Amino acid sequence: MRVLVLGGTFEAGKLADLLAGQSGISSTLSFAGRTNALRAPQIPYRIGGFGGVEGLQAYLEAERIDVLVDATHPFAEQISRHAAIAAARAKIPLVVLSRPAWVAQPGDHWIDAADMAAAAAALGRKPRRVFLTIGRLQIGAFAAAPQHSYLIRTIEPLALSPNLPRHRVILGRGPFAVEAEEKLLREESIDVVVTKNSGGEAAFAKLRAARQLGLPVVMVARPRQASGPVLHDPAEVMAFLHRHRAALPRGV
Ligand SMILES: NC(=O)c1ccc[n+]([C@@H]2O[C@H](COP(=O)([O-])OP(=O)(O)OC[C@H]3O[C@@H](n4cnc5c(N)ncnc54)[C@H](OP(=O)(O)O)[C@@H]3O)[C@@H](O)[C@H]2O)c1
Repeated sequence: MRVLVLGGTFEAGKLADLLAGQSGISSTLSFAGRTNALRAPQIPYRIGGFGGVEGLQAYLEAERIDVLVDATHPFAEQISRHAAIAAARAKIPLVVLSRPAWVAQPGDHWIDAADMAAAAAALGRKPRRVFLTIGRLQIGAFAAAPQHSYLIRTIEPLALSPNLPRHRVILGRGPFAVEAEEKLLREESIDVVVTKNSGGEAAFAKLRAARQLGLPVVMVARPRQASGPVLHDPAEVMAFLHRHRAALPRGV
């Protein structure tokens, strides 16, 4: 059985570890190629876009892929949409591997925002000190709220300086410790945290730190998932793949 895993996440890496050395399952992990710090998996991998839905469908057919696993980030909206359409056109099952969203706990002060523009508006008129941890791609939305001072944390340096009069960029890659996050929020006199609801443990510490300090968090909601059964655990995906393999006609 041939499996293509669309990756770029911690969970996709974990699934690749489980797939490594599985007899009877030949798998490939696909990366978009956005990051320089790629962690090479133990299974074959490829890097770069497919060229839209048509390109992905052509790849699935040329490589005779039996199952497509979408293990991309919950905010990687376009590739997930393409995956759903291409899998349907190639007539193969699609499985979505996605970490559960964070849910507010007692003591949290979350302000829900539907998207980045809403998050920028939710900061209000009064100048505030904002900890912005939303990745690199959508920082531009905060140009609409230039009155605030932004502490921006990204994994890799920004290609272009953001169009924000008061900002500073720091680099950091999770997992982060709650104590260190709390220290950062205190030392930088942060008033409010902005984050995407990515879920997972690696980036959760800032939310716990904000809770402890009583700080509000502007939480940007996930885009709607395109389709397909959503599994939260790489082991569940393995179980799905084994079931599917058992159901394939003999000789496949
Ligand atoms: N968005 C986030 O917050 C975030 C956070 C952490 C990690 N990531 C990872 O970073 C990658 C890019 O995210 P994004 O939000 O820029 O994606 P996106 O907007 O959904 O996708 C843009 C294009 O990038 C290509 N692409 C994306 N993921 C790919 C993959 N795994 N393999 C091959 N091509 C891929 C596709 O190009 P073609 O149309 O040419 O096929 C896709 O149309 C994803 O793999 C995602 O898992 C994203």
